[in-house]
Amino acid sequence: MADLVAIHEEINACTQCALHVGRTNAVPGEGSPDAGIMFIGEGPGFNEDKQARPFVGAAGQFLNELLASIGLRREDVFITNMVKCRPPNNRDPRADEIAEDLPYLYRQIELVGPELLIAVGRVAAQSLLGIEDPIGRMRGKAHYFGEARLPVVVTYHPAYLLRSPREKAKSWVDLKR
Ligand code: URA
Repeated sequence: MADLVAIHEEINACTQCALHVGRTNAVPGEGSPDAGIMFIGEGPGFNEDKQARPFVGAAGQFLNELLASIGLRREDVFITNMVKCRPPNNRDPRADEIAEDLPYLYRQIELVGPELLIAVGRVAAQSLLGIEDPIGRMRGKAHYFGEARLPVVVTYHPAYLLRSPREKAKSWVDLKR
């Protein structure tokens, strides 16, 4: 736990890439320090940047509902993002920005020690798995991360599901897995 706090302090003070210039707050991540499941999104948005917490806007509300639908609360899992500072105008984080923050994510994974990663959305899935397939093709397949071959479930981003409600049932199927 102390080490996780130390990493989060490092993230809060990080000026490694240009994203720090526009941030109100960095958003290291939150949740159970020994969670079995880690959710990984792409990066903080407007509300996350203001509150220094991941997934607290509309997409976050929907993520909470998804968690509840499988009997979990936010406090039961660990939630973080590929990049820890908000990209300007909510654009996708760039590959170089993701690469700068990857060591933080690796350390979070190592310390929390989840049994399962859930890649939330295309950006997280493609960058975690190093593949460029569209998300529709990545869903429903077995994926593994790193030397430890940690299982990864790929699902749609809640922001996409809010725009495309007909796809919502698919994310429930993904989480049920
Ligand atoms: N979208 C993300 O990918 N992450 C957040 O924390 C919020 C919205």
